[in-house]
Amino acid sequence: MKYIKNNFFVEKVNLQKLTKKFDTPLYCYSYNKLKKNINNFKLNFSKLNPLICFAIKSNSNLNIIKEIKKLGLGADVVSKGELVQAIKAGINPKKIVFSGVGKTYSELNYAVDKKILLINSESKSEVMEIEKIAKSKKKIVDIGIRLNPNTDAKTLNKISTGKKGDKFGVNQKTFIELVNYLKKSKYINLKCLSVHIGSQIFENKPYEKMLKVIDRILSKIKFRFNYIDLGGGMGISYENDKKIFNYTNYQKSIIKFLGKYNSKIIFEPGRSIIGNTGILISKIIYIKENQSKNFIILDAGMNDLMRPALYGATHRIIPVNKTKKYSNKTYEFVGPICESTDKFLSIKKFQKLKEKDLIIVCDVGAYGSSLSSNYNLRPKPAEILIKGSRIIIAKKRQKLKDFI
Ligand code: LLP
Repeated sequence: MKYIKNNFFVEKVNLQKLTKKFDTPLYCYSYNKLKKNINNFKLNFSKLNPLICFAIKSNSNLNIIKEIKKLGLGADVVSKGELVQAIKAGINPKKIVFSGVGKTYSELNYAVDKKILLINSESKSEVMEIEKIAKSKKKIVDIGIRLNPNTDAKTLNKISTGKKGDKFGVNQKTFIELVNYLKKSKYINLKCLSVHIGSQIFENKPYEKMLKVIDRILSKIKFRFNYIDLGGGMGISYENDKKIFNYTNYQKSIIKFLGKYNSKIIFEPGRSIIGNTGILISKIIYIKENQSKNFIILDAGMNDLMRPALYGATHRIIPVNKTKKYSNKTYEFVGPICESTDKFLSIKKFQKLKEKDLIIVCDVGAYGSSLSSNYNLRPKPAEILIKGSRIIIAKKRQKLKDFI
């Protein structure tokens, strides 16, 4: 993705031309970037030969998941909908893990029927529910138990999942009790210990601590797990700082940890696979000049991209067509939704803009379209996947009649 003669291109496609055909707001993804991310992820953990299960929640677009499947990944799902979508994309159920604190009887029943690799269970009650289902079907079901390692991921509070006050997983005491109980179960095969401490993590320390907690618990219980599922969470840079997660160090700590245990590693990455592959293109509807600010009112809003409103997350904004004329006013980029939190970013120095100009909100491949909604009864944007000069409609723009 880059400017060629001041016009922004995704691979070989000129965005100005693309929006003429498909209108705005428009999600647009680069296939080559996706492929590169997946290959890098594999390379970064090549010494572990892990099973990589893409976190469908980060991007649940069927056509994108199909590409991810072709590039060799499995899936981490958290609802029946995501499980159906993963299977529809052609992912082998034996490469699917199912997490989530509130899986219902009908969701568990479906997962058992589909013979997925693992149901990663997050409570005693859920384990009992699975056992009941397995017994009624006279089947043996493979499961994991998600441990809450009480580890601070040192990330945004709202996306941290591994501290003792978080709703996820079970504490060490319950974990040990469940292992002892399941050793004798006729219907459940306990195969995995799973953890996931949070998202957008940059430091290695939280992961090292998490591995230490797992190590301590494993040495206490003397039970062999076929799989250790370490979840996802590796951070990506949303700013111009080129900050990167240190994969080499993480792999080293895992190798050290595995020295004592002979288990296969599973990862559940979302953001690190899809985050920087996607952009959101939006058109300026109006420019409203108030005393101190210029409001740039976009046709994309918080219903299309929730992250800034929900987490105070920053996404860079850049123009589709670059000029060299700068403004010294502060631009506040806002959406059309009737909420004050419907704003993306304030920028001090930006090129001069006029109504109908196009801008790009960067790095929205993860938790962008998948978190979008019809709030204010606005249709969801189309999603385009670019492969070289090929333009693939990965999802059609919603029409009002689709939901009214
Ligand atoms: N595995 C489990 C069990 C998870 O809960 C998650 C994310 C992942 C894997 C993938 O994590 P990743 O590699 O993408 O960091 N909506 C928030 C992020 C929420 C993450 C929820 N769980 C955001 O936009 O930042």
